[in-house]
Amino acid sequence: SKRIGVLTSGGDSQGMNAAVRAVVRMAIVRGCKPYLIYEGYQGLVSGGDKIRSASWNDVSNFLTLGGTLIGTARCMDFLKPEGRRIAVHNLIKHGIDTLVVIGGDGSLTGADTLRHEWPDHVKQLHDDGKISQQEADKYRNLMIVGMVGSIDNDLASTDMTIGASSALTRICESVDSILSTATSHRRAFVVEVMGRHCGWLAMNAAICTGADYLFIPEDPPAGDWETDMCEALKRTRSAGKRTSIVIVAEGAIDDKCNPIKSEFIKDVLTQRLGYDTRVTILGHVQRGGSPTAVDRYLATLQGAEAIEAILRATPDTPSPVIGILENKITTQPLKEAIALTKQVAKAIQDHDFQRAAELRPRSFLT
Ligand code: F6P
Repeated sequence: SKRIGVLTSGGDSQGMNAAVRAVVRMAIVRGCKPYLIYEGYQGLVSGGDKIRSASWNDVSNFLTLGGTLIGTARCMDFLKPEGRRIAVHNLIKHGIDTLVVIGGDGSLTGADTLRHEWPDHVKQLHDDGKISQQEADKYRNLMIVGMVGSIDNDLASTDMTIGASSALTRICESVDSILSTATSHRRAFVVEVMGRHCGWLAMNAAICTGADYLFIPEDPPAGDWETDMCEALKRTRSAGKRTSIVIVAEGAIDDKCNPIKSEFIKDVLTQRLGYDTRVTILGHVQRGGSPTAVDRYLATLQGAEAIEAILRATPDTPSPVIGILENKITTQPLKEAIALTKQVAKAIQDHDFQRAAELRPRSFLT
């Protein structure tokens, strides 16, 4: 039966465990043999007990837990072809020629590179006498399937990445908590949220908490934005509000691509408006805790689809990535998804926000 390895890579996100569980269990249901690969790509390179066959019960209690129970790591060895050759050898030792990789775009691109190099590595391993002719014939190709685990929701081609819903929920809970103390003291808070170069978390957090002002990389403020911000906050105060909440994406920039720093915003509010202002950088709290129902559901449906995509694939099928568009689970060529993500990043860099929005149409929670 088909042997399928599953690993998580890059920054963790809530719902990764649910995805691993779904992959393992669906693999068993469909007559395949699943393997858990521990510590991301490092586990592939280290081999040994980092690659373990998985039973139904090995993923019990995975569904509701945050983080990734099989670990993730940044692996320098995997960035080098020699490291990837060792990974190929380890996989062949376990009879694995299919991988489900759960991670962000960098991790998924790494998997695609491994797939393309695979035949050369197999040939070299055979020439070096490390694998038999029979093994070289049997493991001619690697199949990979990507699942997008990231709180940032920064992959074009899917409406939601696994973890984005939970991180957004965590941010909203935190801003709610801040609001109560801010109201008592009539304070202003600058709340900085994660998202790397993507403003999805910040924008949706601002909508969901009724924040007063927002900075996201996709819509850099032009000209004298300090005055605009102060005027906007003054208006809400004179309408009776006791607090001012400014949400800042960690990747926020101005129209000259200079970073907009939370501390700078605080100084503007203190000096120009005389508001008693605090900065809260939410940090990794956003990536922790148990996944929301949306992330559990999304990860479970996508994990099941990952196995179906494997069973449908032929050696010529481009590596697929599983997504969700307009509430339908999708399977698309990974390369196209990554290329689209790069085009969106370029459009943002070029300040062509119209094009960015056209390239990244979102229907769900955007
Ligand atoms: O990509 C997920 C993310 O949490 C980003 O939002 C953030 O910029 C980054 O990872 C933080 O990385 P690290 O956990 O390595 O500090």
